[in-house]
Amino acid sequence: MQRFSITVGDITGSHADAIVNAANTTLLGGSGVDGAIHRAAGPELLAQCRTLGGCQTGHAKLTDGFRLHARYVIQTPGPIWQGGGKGEAELLASCYRSCLEIACARKLESVDFPSISTGVYGYPLPQAATVALRAIMTFLADHDYPRRVRMVCHTEAAARIYRQTWNLWYAESKADRL
Ligand code: APR
Repeated sequence: MQRFSITVGDITGSHADAIVNAANTTLLGGSGVDGAIHRAAGPELLAQCRTLGGCQTGHAKLTDGFRLHARYVIQTPGPIWQGGGKGEAELLASCYRSCLEIACARKLESVDFPSISTGVYGYPLPQAATVALRAIMTFLADHDYPRRVRMVCHTEAAARIYRQTWNLWYAESKADRL
């Protein structure tokens, strides 16, 4: 079974064990996927988030899924794009790694990611896709859990960029093995 895949859809409808929320450091909700997840999860999610004391950019915290199909929501604030010279790539990679570490520690079978930081936070999609795929594939190479990870893109255009980036990464990794 393929451990990683790219799909198009609304992450709030996901049946994965956990979905990741592109949150902000307050963890008190917002627009974009953050707003969609809070609306779908119900007010209990915000009540739980209020007890967490926020979250640093690049870090992640686990919350329940409440009215979502997903059992958990892993909250992670991505970096705001400032041109690429303020450590954005390292912070974005840290978001993916931190979420996967939580999922691995709980031996979750499946985790769905949105494309963190590529909306309100302005991270250019091609650069974000390169960082995301490298972080995910590096983690999966060294860990047995989660068993399945998906990138859930909200649009076909975004998925196309992830697929193009995946093909480039995969070709490079095959070349390295030769
Ligand atoms: N399902 C999947 N992906 C979605 C959904 C959805 N329902 N809604 C939006 N997206 C996609 C966007 O198209 C974008 O590619 O999620 C990606 C991240 O965009 P944002 O939600 O704007 O998140 P981000 O860029 O990380 O900005 C975070 O926005 O919503 C606020 O509180 C949040 O302050 C924080 C900031």
